[in-house]
Amino acid sequence: MFRTVIICMSDKGAKGEREDLSTKIIEKIALENGYKIIKKILIPDEFELIKETLKNICDNNEADLILTTGGTGFSKRDVTPEATLEVIDKVIPGIPEAIRAYSMTITKRAMLSRAAAGIRKNTLIINMPGSPKAVEESLSFIIDSLTHGLEILVGTSSECARK
Ligand code: MTE
Repeated sequence: MFRTVIICMSDKGAKGEREDLSTKIIEKIALENGYKIIKKILIPDEFELIKETLKNICDNNEADLILTTGGTGFSKRDVTPEATLEVIDKVIPGIPEAIRAYSMTITKRAMLSRAAAGIRKNTLIINMPGSPKAVEESLSFIIDSLTHGLEILVGTSSECARK
């Protein structure tokens, strides 16, 4: 059971002006796949706050996986990828590449997400776009391979041979 924290970056959500449906969808898919939700956090699109939130979870070894939603687009307030890239030790380009490649088969607007992913200490951080539709499409597509990656990260598997 991978310990998972979900973080929604949304100015409107944090002010209570928009319901956060994306976190609910992430939680549903994660639970269906046997992940354990440790906590759900809703914060505004503040660079330093995002960085501190990510760092605290990783450095206190609270989670194996952090899934973020929102703040990956072109708005001036969208800074989730920049905050993520500042705190990670290792960049994982393949995960956002895969999400965008698959998502492009659904909507060409998928090219507008600047989402990043990487590892800080023992925790994998993955950005996803903000809309409920986008998180559903993104997470459903990666979750099988993600499970394998997490098994290697936490040390329960070192075997990559294909079944
Ligand atoms: N990815 C998928 N799978 N489905 C979508 O509907 N929407 C795109 C893109 N990625 C979308 C998607 C759009 S319209 C935008 S603007 C970007 O994600 C950034 O979204 P964000 O600013 O909410 O993070």
